[in-house]
Amino acid sequence: MSELSTKRVFVTREHIIPEAIAHLRQFVEVEVWPERSAPPREVILRKALESDGMITEITDQVDKELLDQAPRLKVVANRAVGMDNIDIGEATKHGVLVSNTPGVLHESCADFTFGLMLSVARNIAFGDRRIRAGEWKVFDQIPYLGTDVHGATLGIIGMGLIGTAVARRAQAFDMRVLYHSRSRKPEVEDRLGVEWRPDMDGLLGESDFVSLHVPLTADTERIIGRRELDLMQPHSFLINTTRGPTVDPVALYEAVKTGKIAGAALDVTDPEPIPIGDPLLTLPNVVISPHIASASSSTVKKMGELTVQNVVGALAGTAMPSCLNPKAAANR
Ligand code: GLV
Repeated sequence: MSELSTKRVFVTREHIIPEAIAHLRQFVEVEVWPERSAPPREVILRKALESDGMITEITDQVDKELLDQAPRLKVVANRAVGMDNIDIGEATKHGVLVSNTPGVLHESCADFTFGLMLSVARNIAFGDRRIRAGEWKVFDQIPYLGTDVHGATLGIIGMGLIGTAVARRAQAFDMRVLYHSRSRKPEVEDRLGVEWRPDMDGLLGESDFVSLHVPLTADTERIIGRRELDLMQPHSFLINTTRGPTVDPVALYEAVKTGKIAGAALDVTDPEPIPIGDPLLTLPNVVISPHIASASSSTVKKMGELTVQNVVGALAGTAMPSCLNPKAAANR
């Protein structure tokens, strides 16, 4: 314990998980970036050099440049399930353990996915925007006629914990659920009655709603582009709660604008934050939220606690609950 107390951990955003950081202070020396915005790159580089561990957010890039200059660094704990901001291959080579936060946020993300689906299909956000603009003058439902979610076909791309939690909710909406993922999941098929599509194109053509739940990797970047949007049906909707770069935003704008698809609901955009002049924001049938699918108070607390357990586990040499590269330990 005394050795652990000499370890130094840099936290790039304290205000998101204050209780977890207070807990972390019981074990190690903690330094925090005090602002709500991300620390500038030069600060992250300097702190990486001076620290044994770092707690990062998805906007903090942990790349070769940082890792090359951080011989003391032993662990980077990302407060997110996604890890596209971290070069895990380089971290492993440098002997730096990396963790994320699986298993604590999938239910909140699945709730939110349904929120987006309902919001765009039933014009909830559109109606709210019209009221605030002073446009509710008479009782007239016709401008707001929506598409039913219940009974529709939902195509899930990526059947991990979040995709599966979405499929479970879809059962209650009497939806037919198709899924595409690299590996088939017979157990999920048996339990939830979902149908596997080895070919994503088939799923796109058959679905009324397409929801993305794949992590962002070189293989999934722009997984939805012009060709894929062309395969979707004119009455269908695209839902994205994973990472903005999985979708080509220019192709999406064109597809919605020209009626190739009926609309889109996005919790993530490319770039983030989406600039106020982005053409997607001019489309009434596009709903956009500021990357908050996991952000319920209770889930964010759990993410903070898991992140702290990962840092403390790595620095104490005990178990790390969600290490992504245990092989890194051999490279120290
Ligand atoms: C949020 O985007 C996460 O990856 O947890």
